[in-house]
Amino acid sequence: MAEEESSLATKSDGSHTKTGWPNFTQQCKALFYKNFLLSRRNLRATVLQLGSSLFFIFLIFCVELSSKALQRSTTNYKNLFNPTPASVPAIPACENGFYIKPDCYDFIWIGAQTPRLLSLVDNIRNNNPNRVINEAKVKHFATAQESDQWLLENPMRCTGTLYFEERGTTIAYGIQTNSTATGDHGRFEDPNFTYQIPLQVAAEREIARLVSGDASLQWNVAFSQFAHPAINAASVVGRVGPAFLLAATMFGFVIQLSNLVTEKELRLRQMMSTMGLIDSAYWITWLLWEVVLVFISSLLLVLFGMMFQFDFFLHNNFGILFFLFFLFQLNMIGLAFMVSTFVSKSTSATNVGFFVFIIGFLTQLVTIFGFPYDKKFSQALRSVWSLFPPNVFAAALNYLGLATSTAQDPGIKWKDRSKCSYRSEDCVLTMNDIYGWLIATFFLWFVLAIYFDNVFPDVNGVRKPCFYFLSPSYWLGKGVKLFEGGRCCNCSGSVPPPEAEEYDDPDVSSEATLVKEQKENGYKDPNVAVHVQGLVKTYPGSHKCVGCRMKATKPYHAVKGSWFNIEKDKLFCLLGPNGAGKTTTINCLTGTIPTSSGDALVYGESIRSTSGVTNIRKNMGVCPQFDVLWEALTAREHLHLFGSIKGLPSSEIKIGTSQLLEQVKLVEAGNVRAGSYSGGMKRRLSVAIALIGDPKIVYLDEPTTGMDPVTRRHVWDIIEASKKGRAIVLTTHSMEEADILGDRVAIMARGKLRCIGTPIHLKTKFGAGYLVNVSVRREDGMQQPGEAAREEVRRTGVKNFFNEQLELVPTDENKAYITFIIPREKEAQLPGFFKLLEDKKAELGISDLQLGLTTLEEVFLTISRQADLENAAAEGRFETLTVNGQALQVPVGAQQVRIPDSVSDSAPNGMMVEVFWQQDDVGALKIARHSEPKPAAEVLDSDPGQHWRSTSLHSQRSLREPSNILPGSVQMTSR
Ligand SMILES: Nc1ncnc2c1ncn2[C@@H]1O[C@H](COP(=O)(O)OP(=O)(O)OP(=O)(O)O)[C@@H](O)[C@H]1O
Ligand SMILES: [Mg+2]
Repeated sequence: MAEEESSLATKSDGSHTKTGWPNFTQQCKALFYKNFLLSRRNLRATVLQLGSSLFFIFLIFCVELSSKALQRSTTNYKNLFNPTPASVPAIPACENGFYIKPDCYDFIWIGAQTPRLLSLVDNIRNNNPNRVINEAKVKHFATAQESDQWLLENPMRCTGTLYFEERGTTIAYGIQTNSTATGDHGRFEDPNFTYQIPLQVAAEREIARLVSGDASLQWNVAFSQFAHPAINAASVVGRVGPAFLLAATMFGFVIQLSNLVTEKELRLRQMMSTMGLIDSAYWITWLLWEVVLVFISSLLLVLFGMMFQFDFFLHNNFGILFFLFFLFQLNMIGLAFMVSTFVSKSTSATNVGFFVFIIGFLTQLVTIFGFPYDKKFSQALRSVWSLFPPNVFAAALNYLGLATSTAQDPGIKWKDRSKCSYRSEDCVLTMNDIYGWLIATFFLWFVLAIYFDNVFPDVNGVRKPCFYFLSPSYWLGKGVKLFEGGRCCNCSGSVPPPEAEEYDDPDVSSEATLVKEQKENGYKDPNVAVHVQGLVKTYPGSHKCVGCRMKATKPYHAVKGSWFNIEKDKLFCLLGPNGAGKTTTINCLTGTIPTSSGDALVYGESIRSTSGVTNIRKNMGVCPQFDVLWEALTAREHLHLFGSIKGLPSSEIKIGTSQLLEQVKLVEAGNVRAGSYSGGMKRRLSVAIALIGDPKIVYLDEPTTGMDPVTRRHVWDIIEASKKGRAIVLTTHSMEEADILGDRVAIMARGKLRCIGTPIHLKTKFGAGYLVNVSVRREDGMQQPGEAAREEVRRTGVKNFFNEQLELVPTDENKAYITFIIPREKEAQLPGFFKLLEDKKAELGISDLQLGLTTLEEVFLTISRQADLENAAAEGRFETLTVNGQALQVPVGAQQVRIPDSVSDSAPNGMMVEVFWQQDDVGALKIARHSEPKPAAEVLDSDPGQHWRSTSLHSQRSLREPSNILPGSVQMTSR
């Protein structure tokens, strides 16, 4: 207890979190429990991993049965304790022999055709027991050479030959048979017993009768096998076991690989790291979990083997077998750990597993043939071959199989594991050597897995340098500098820095000056949680091979140097169009990706230092833009896991979980798996995860996306209530949300801060007054002939009216409405203006008139539009405008365009059109429509090459005149 107390860090609010070893063990426990839950929820995979060996052992059993069936006519597999003598059979008909061709002969005889020999052969034919051999079935040759020549030319046409020679009164004989034993469908034909002995007995019987002159001389010969027990030629497990048991192990391999890659792919591991997970706890827990599974699976494997009564399993020592299967399976898991660092998609896990199996299967086949575990191969070759676990495993099974190849073999005892078995006395690997190899290669895979995990880019493309482990700061716990990209060298120096900082907006500029001064003076404002000091993030370009060509992408400046403070007890709202750099800013602040330059101090800790990030994470909560959740875990389990990772004492986790579930209205769904949650429920769970453990800084990246209005308002309440005692950074695309929640709002666009201040300040500054939407469309929506022209006239009338009365130009124009923003300074003129407008409503053809206060949305649109204009100017971007069949290249943002070569008497300044712009889904300005051509009131540009005028799309004073920033000219292309 005393130890626990000392390892608790006290937070400002008096609560505690565990640090050091207790935190490590707590994380391990929580991750172990998570692995257990995931395995339990994915029961099918777990059962496969544990019990697949039963199926494969059964298959080996079937192989053994079939091999026995194939040898059923031999007594090899039977105990033959009382062999009964059998009388020698008759000479068989040649047609009964295996693979004998038609027109065959029962035997050939060789010798001179003397009366005695002719009579002898006749007697052999006629006295053949049970069957007289037809004369046509016997062939004669005078000499052995002739017979051999015939046999050579006519293979498989005769089963044996008898050679006779008269030597005085005696007759000598010789026998020739094909000595190859053949088999067919489980029956064996041994030429010794089938042909040779019957011919021999027949020849001797008839010679004896002939020589003795006693035609009825009895000549009985019988033969009998030795008594013997069943003999196994080789252990089936030793022969086919390697491939089958490798297949069984591949289930665990693929499942483990898929688990690791899924956690990486779905950013679950990243999320856990962001919440403070210690890397070693992650690996150790997976290892411990796998040790448990492999232990059970190896135990079952040996028991299944014993159940099927294999001598292999019954005679070899249990410990020897268990240890072998345990180490081999663990080795494959180590290999899966290492392979997982190369694989980025979980769907590839099966393919990788299949590939490893095929390679393993083939190398095992080679191993079973004796390569290279024999003295005639070099030790170096054996060492290289043994690096691949299936090879050592095959060698081990082969070795153990040999030691139990007959039922009498005693197998290998535990005490004999360092000796060669008596059947392989000149072995090059004892069981101890095999264990040594398996243990060594397991550590090799595990160490390589951790090394590759560090030096290969993670899901955000971040990695450590190749020799990070040589850096003293790594071992001192200060961490090492992180890099991006896949190469071993750090090439980020070649990336050009973003353009020099320019602060168009005085607020942004004065905020930057303040933060810079604070930095220079080393002053840490006690009211500020985060000092963002010139944060720059440049994503490095990449080179990819697409087909035969190298495709290079340029480095991209996602954040171009932000300077701002985030205050304590406040909510800082970061707004911006898609791709503005909001998530990138948050990722830099959370230490998920390294900054390219600049820094941020979060409660005094620098995000550039690894130890700083570790400290920051202890007091940080993150709700990522996209939900990072385990489908199979419930909300309660998620909160428990992340609470444990943060080092909260279990009592706090329990209370915190219940409170948060209540706050985010997930009490009922708290025990339901997150996979079945709706999008809004998942977001709420993500918000709860970000808030667990009362973090002092919380990053919420679009937390309310996908929520219904009721829940959204509820989450707003939670966020509002959570402001106290912490700083919250929130990004959102809901201006209403920013307006309600944000104490300070900053709008980013294209990586730069464009404005900063309270919502009211921004609205006053950029919205600056009242919003008037005027529609001149026919109310009935009828499009009669000439209506478009009449509508255009009405539009011009309205615009002229606003211009004359209030000196205003439209800020936006679309088909339905013309939008004007009336600045506050004109407030006094408004009553008169609106009265006049009301009177002239019919005259101007106004069908609808809406008046409102400018919203944050207006500010947002203005800022994002300005950002795109600026960007278009910087890039020199043109859009194509088609007028009367002529395609004109117009600089983005130009409002009036003169039609080239259109000077006439009625239009001395040429004809022009007005161009109306709108933003597309990524905020880029596109031509919405253009007016009918009309005579230009003045020469649009003194430069004869320029035919356009670009005036500001907005009336705000802080925006630069696009005419200053849009150089270029109309480029005409004919259609
Ligand atoms: N890993 C990456 N490599 C290269 N470019 C990236 C990477 N991640 C983001 N970017 C680019 O950086 C820019 C900023 O992206 P970011 O995700 O920060 O935008 P955002 O403001 O969060 O947008 P949204 O509102 O859509 O979430 C985008 O143009 C994006 O394409
Ligand atoms: Mg984002």
